[in-house]
Amino acid sequence: MIDQFGRRVEYLRISVTDKCNLRCVYCMPMEGLPWLKREEILSYEEIEQIVRTMAGMGLRRVRITGGEPLVRRDLPDLIRMISAIPEIEDLSLSTNAVLLEDQAEALRSAGVQRLNVSLDSLRADRVDAISRRPGSYPAIMAGLDAAERAGFAPIKINVVLIRGQNDDEIADFAEITRKRPWHIRFIELMPTGANLDLSAKQFVSCDEALRRVEAIDALEPVAGPFGNGPARYYRFPNAPGTVGVITPMSHNYCDRCNRMRLTADGHLRPCLFGSIQTNLRDPLRAGEDLVPHIVHTLQIKPERHYLIQGSDVGSGGLVALSQTGG
Ligand code: 5AD
Ligand code: SF4
Repeated sequence: MIDQFGRRVEYLRISVTDKCNLRCVYCMPMEGLPWLKREEILSYEEIEQIVRTMAGMGLRRVRITGGEPLVRRDLPDLIRMISAIPEIEDLSLSTNAVLLEDQAEALRSAGVQRLNVSLDSLRADRVDAISRRPGSYPAIMAGLDAAERAGFAPIKINVVLIRGQNDDEIADFAEITRKRPWHIRFIELMPTGANLDLSAKQFVSCDEALRRVEAIDALEPVAGPFGNGPARYYRFPNAPGTVGVITPMSHNYCDRCNRMRLTADGHLRPCLFGSIQTNLRDPLRAGEDLVPHIVHTLQIKPERHYLIQGSDVGSGGLVALSQTGG
């Protein structure tokens, strides 16, 4: 699958639910969102059919996202179904880890190879404040321990930078990479309909984060762990882990984009932002061939996103990243 700008697309992020058990300040409004109805959501069999079709067209890597994917029942069943597709070489999962302790082992044996965990602070009270669900911190830590025991590697930690809420912990996060084989990735806050005030007033650039990390010790650019998409990685001398930055706002990386997204209700999105999406669910349910719909979506994949800090114009009506899988 090659788009009109010559980018090879071999990676699909699949959102299995729009629901979440947290309410992160930069993502979902406190009261939640108008949830999809059960019949609108793709079944595991339908997801499998779409992945099989795309695998025949060049798809090689899949990531499961949400909302929070672990709130969907029997997720290991879907993992097994996707693992059984021979062309899929890499299967990973993004989670907030709140429910991971109980599921880590089952997900690993079903075929999840790698995990990305969202963790925006190392302090319990702040995790509660940012995720707006008190008590989540101990569950997340237990989930991370269980993930290490289950043998997931690499483990990547996503930290969304928020001025005044976690920017004073940049050095603490970076220090972890000297002790544990974790890949800490600082992410610039992207504006969506639900976070306009926050993203306008509390934005922190990754250049600033890197300056603070460099003040601790020398940083060497490295290739980074397997599966790297838009992140750039650095390492302290002899450290087991790395520090990465994801810079959607300050340094555009769309020219290297290798992915599309499948929403929980079966729309194929060629870009995280913008309003372009193709309904695959209805043709699938009508028994139509999906290939032309997928080819068409690839052809209209935009060259880049047009996000502007402090505005939701470029987000294309997206209220929260939970709606498209981040
Ligand atoms: N800006 C930046 N990152 C975000 N995420 C969710 N919403 C935003 C946003 N508006 C992050 C989550 C998760 C990843 C999939 O995206 O924290 O780590
Ligand atoms: Fe849930 Fe992830 Fe959004 Fe937080 S960022 S509310 S964990 S979907």
